[in-house]
Amino acid sequence: MLQETSPSPIRAFIDGLPKAELHLHIEGTLEPEMIFALAQRNGVKLPYASIEALREAYAFTNLQSFLDLYYAGAAVLITEQDFHDMTAAYLRRAAADKVRHVEIMFDPQTHTERGVAVATVFAGIASAMREARAHDGMSGYLILSFLRHLSEEDAFATLEAALPLREQYADLWLAVGLDSSEVGNPPEKFARIYARCKELGFHLTAHAGEEGPPPYVTGALDTLRVERIDHGIRAEQDPKLLKRLARQRTPLTVCPLSNLKLKTIEKMEDHNLARLLRQGLAVTVNSDDPAYFGGYVNDNYEAVAKALGIDEADCLALARNSITGSFLDTAAQARLLVEIEDYALSRGH
Ligand code: ADE
Ligand code: ZN
Repeated sequence: MLQETSPSPIRAFIDGLPKAELHLHIEGTLEPEMIFALAQRNGVKLPYASIEALREAYAFTNLQSFLDLYYAGAAVLITEQDFHDMTAAYLRRAAADKVRHVEIMFDPQTHTERGVAVATVFAGIASAMREARAHDGMSGYLILSFLRHLSEEDAFATLEAALPLREQYADLWLAVGLDSSEVGNPPEKFARIYARCKELGFHLTAHAGEEGPPPYVTGALDTLRVERIDHGIRAEQDPKLLKRLARQRTPLTVCPLSNLKLKTIEKMEDHNLARLLRQGLAVTVNSDDPAYFGGYVNDNYEAVAKALGIDEADCLALARNSITGSFLDTAAQARLLVEIEDYALSRGH
């Protein structure tokens, strides 16, 4: 008889731990199998002979080398059904990881540039999120993210195209974000669009300090007025900034396997997540683009547990940070914090 290997004690603890995922690009959840299936469904030609050949191409040297493949992979997404199926597959996977709330980033410009209407993108992602809410009780919000390698003018055009949909998706679309190639595209480039989004009442987040230097994190805080920082690991190079982030308890949505795959660090043992946690920063653990980086959210928790000595109490702290760092209102946060406390008690904490 085949014997299933049982998970390590820390993995079993992580698997049962209620948590939120706050840094997840939905286009980064397209597994090679789905890229091939959607390419076939839509008659899109791929420059790879097989699923294995595509997976083998996932050997990145930096952020840009990944982004080139990520945007190419997203080209198989054409119809509302495609966006629905991609999102539903991720949400099923997340539910299995005990994700109770997710804040999903999506890049409309990647799709509108190919002639896919922003309404199609919203409709497909939203229907899957509403199904997950009804069936699994998993809540979720959408973060419309601007591509920073494009102009601020382009971002304004994207916002204008999406705003007529705001009421229809008021239960989901609560925030805007900023992603893509960081170095050379500082936050200040997007000062006016962020001011406009703040005026409109959106929550604000931005990638900063993934590959970019500490002033990019400061710029995101002071010029863009973001409430949290996506990645932020490079803030460690500036002790004053680090102190400020700790004092203000600014959530950092850290993505350890992403950092490893994109060569921000050489080996997981070098990751600064545990140091940041010990210094009082509101760090969270997330998967970023799980189909490309070799793991979903629990794999990220497990990787830092193994390499950095993150223990059960640390995992509880990280999960609590994921709830308090979310855009959920206080009452919804309190309900999820109770789920975590019940779990902690049931596991002898
Ligand atoms: N888009 C998708 N993943 C990203 C990342 N890790 N950094 C910047 N932009 C992204
Ligand atoms: Zn990201």
